Amino acid sequence: MGIEVVVEGLTKSFGKQNIWQDVSLTLPAGEVSVMLGPSGTGKTVFLKSIIGLLKPEQGRVLINGVDMVNSSERDIMETRKLFGLMFQDGALFGSMSLFDNIAFPLREHTRKKESEIRRIVMERIDIVGLLGAEGKLPGEISGGMRKRAGLARALVLDPQIILCDEPDSGLDPVRTAYLSQLLIDLNAQIDATMLIVTHNLDIAATVPDNMGMLFCRNLVTFGPREVLLTSDTPVVSQFLAGRREGPIGMSEEKDAATLAAEQLADTAPPRTGPRTVVPQLEPSPGMPVRQGALRRRERVMSMMGQLPEAARTAILNSYAPAAGGARA
Ligand SMILES: Nc1ncnc2c1ncn2[C@@H]1O[C@H](COP(=O)(O)OP(=O)(O)OP(=O)(O)O)[C@@H](O)[C@H]1O
Ligand SMILES: [Mg+2]
Repeated sequence: MGIEVVVEGLTKSFGKQNIWQDVSLTLPAGEVSVMLGPSGTGKTVFLKSIIGLLKPEQGRVLINGVDMVNSSERDIMETRKLFGLMFQDGALFGSMSLFDNIAFPLREHTRKKESEIRRIVMERIDIVGLLGAEGKLPGEISGGMRKRAGLARALVLDPQIILCDEPDSGLDPVRTAYLSQLLIDLNAQIDATMLIVTHNLDIAATVPDNMGMLFCRNLVTFGPREVLLTSDTPVVSQFLAGRREGPIGMSEEKDAATLAAEQLADTAPPRTGPRTVVPQLEPSPGMPVRQGALRRRERVMSMMGQLPEAARTAILNSYAPAAGGARA
């Protein structure tokens, strides 16, 4: 079962450049979360900080009692084995077949026999739909296949926490839809805690249980998906609508003058009440029920009192019997 990840007061700078400050959030055990944010806001730096590859100056990242920022390197290395990582660029070795790429973590970190490795690798290759391509080199397959190979490699060590950095980049809309379903099916099968960094609005709208957003060196918000999907906070609604009008500019932040001019010109489309929240993806037929979704329902129901009206309505609608086919 997935493990909770607790981030407390995290602050990271490179020299004088502060990337973000005082970031606190909890990734609930076995739930799927998405982190949004314009380019350069430090999403990749955040993922690297969670696994202890980068060291924030302040704060803690607690996983099973180990602090990935301040604990001993030995404890951090040990805890890192709980993770599966899918990098922004797939990060496959170009001279190795897909099979050898996916087998790499097993050969590196375990003493399993070659027959056992073969069984595990082929099972993961099957999960991501790459059966038959295992002998190919990364250069001989499409970008989407490389993504899925990266995902298969992230899965070989039975991770309890999975971090995916832009799993959809370079994929066409149909492949992105398949990938979304794959992520949900995976979560149903292994109940791992998942954090996905993405710019893709369809993934954001349909995959996660929870969503957060980094902007202007801060975590703007993190919470149940419905909170962001119905949010009136300008930066959140601008990002989720993919609009030019709003606080986010080409180089991240617009200056006050541009914003004021925009408000005068009133180019933003009129708001038409709360946005509709599309249903979250369900696991494919034949997949187990998502344990994380069951726990999430309890959790969200117990925090209803603290949520904005629009989010409450969306949550109640999504859990209403009429809304949901196979929803357990
Ligand atoms: N090792 C490093 N040393 C110095 N600066 C770094 C390092 N890694 C990242 N940065 C800086 O931190 C900032 C955030 O980078 P990061 O890659 O996390 O952004 P991002 O949100 O993932 O962007 P994108 O959506 O384009 O992937 C950038 O300004 C980057 O130049
Ligand atoms: Mg990045």
